[in-house]
Amino acid sequence: MSGALARAGRAPVVLGIETSCDETGVGIVRGTELLANRIASSMELHARFGGVVPEIAARAHLEAMEPTIRAALDDASMTLDDIDAIAVTAGPGLAGALMVGIGAAKGLATARALPLYGVNHLVGHVAADVLSGEPLELPTVALLVSGGHTSLLLVRDLAGDVELLGETIDDAAGEAFDKTARLLGLSYPGGPSIDAAAVGGDPAAIAFPRGLTAPKDRARHRWNFSFSGLKTSVARHVERAEAAGEQLPIADVAASFREAVVDVLVSKALDACAEHGIPRLLLGGGVVANRRLREVAAERCAAAGVTLRIPPLELCTDNGAMIAAVGAMLVARGDAPSAPGFGAESTLDASTVQVVA
Ligand code: KG4
Ligand code: ZN
Repeated sequence: MSGALARAGRAPVVLGIETSCDETGVGIVRGTELLANRIASSMELHARFGGVVPEIAARAHLEAMEPTIRAALDDASMTLDDIDAIAVTAGPGLAGALMVGIGAAKGLATARALPLYGVNHLVGHVAADVLSGEPLELPTVALLVSGGHTSLLLVRDLAGDVELLGETIDDAAGEAFDKTARLLGLSYPGGPSIDAAAVGGDPAAIAFPRGLTAPKDRARHRWNFSFSGLKTSVARHVERAEAAGEQLPIADVAASFREAVVDVLVSKALDACAEHGIPRLLLGGGVVANRRLREVAAERCAAAGVTLRIPPLELCTDNGAMIAAVGAMLVARGDAPSAPGFGAESTLDASTVQVVA
C-alpha cells in the first residue's frame, strides 16, 4: 500500500482513533497535514467522582464512536473510500477504554480491507507537533503531562527511537491537580479550577515539597516524578486550618501548589535537556493548558537557550489526529500493519511505537 502511495506521489490519508482515557478522538491526516480532529469527551460524567471512572469512560466511548467518526469524515469532506489506513491507540491507557477503540478500528479495517496500525499513545502526543505546520526538529526532550501520565521522553526518531527517561511513581500531574482541587473543595477537572483559585495568590506563600528533587533521589529517581507527598502536604494545611478554626488562604495555597508542580516539571525537563545536550523541549498533554506552566517553561527555556515547542491546545489534549499522525508516518516509511490479533496494552512502554502482534 505504501509503495503504491509513494508511486502515486501522495501522502497517505490516515484515520486515527483514540480512546485511552475519557476522550473519544477521531482525527484524519494526510501525511503531516491535519484534515479533521473531532473529540467527544465524557469528562462531565466523571465530575461527581472527582476523577475518570474506567467503566463509565468505556461505555461513553462506545456511544460516541460512530457519530465521532462520521463527524470527522464530514469535517474532512471525505468518505471511508478516501481513507488509506487506520491507526488506533493500542496503549498505554485504561484497558476497557482502549478495547472499545481497538474494536471499532478492527471493524472498520476489516470491512474496508484497510491496513490497521496499533500505535503508542505517548508517541502520539509527540507526533501531534508535526501537525502544527512546522517541522519537528529531532532529537528533542518531550514532557507529557496529563490526567493519566507524566512522562519525560528522549525522542531521537519518532518512528523508532523513543526512550522513556522517567515518569511519575504515583499520581500523574493532572491527577495531582484533580485530587488537590477536591481537597480544597474545588470542582473537577482540578487544573482549571486551581488556575482560577490561584489568581491573586502568592506562589511563594507556602514552601510545598518538590518531590524527588533531593540529592538522595538522584541515583534512582533523577528523571522520575512524585506528587503524592505534595498532595498530603496540602491536606495537612487544610486540616490544620480547620482544626484552628481559621479560614484557609485558598488563593495562596492554590498558587503555591501550582508553583511546586510547575517548578518540578520544568526543572527536571530542562535538566534532561542539559544532561543530554539537547536544546529542544516539547510539551504535550492536558496540563499544558496551565498558564503558569507555559509561563515558567517559556522563561526558563529562554534563559537556558532551549527552544520550546507547544502544539495548539486541541492537539495537546488527547485526540485522534495525533494517532493518525503516527500511523501516517509508519505508512510513509513502508512499515507493515499490526497483526490482526493485537490487543489493548494498558502499560505499553514508550519505546514501542507500534504494536506488531
Ligand atoms: O490530556 P488530557 O485532556 O486527558 C487525560 O488525561 O485524559 O488531560 C486532562 C488533565 C486533567 O487532569 C486536568 O485537571 C488537567 O489535564 N488540566 C490542567 C489544566 N487544564 C486541564 N491542569 C493544570 N492546569 C490546567 N489549566
Ligand atoms: Zn494523553
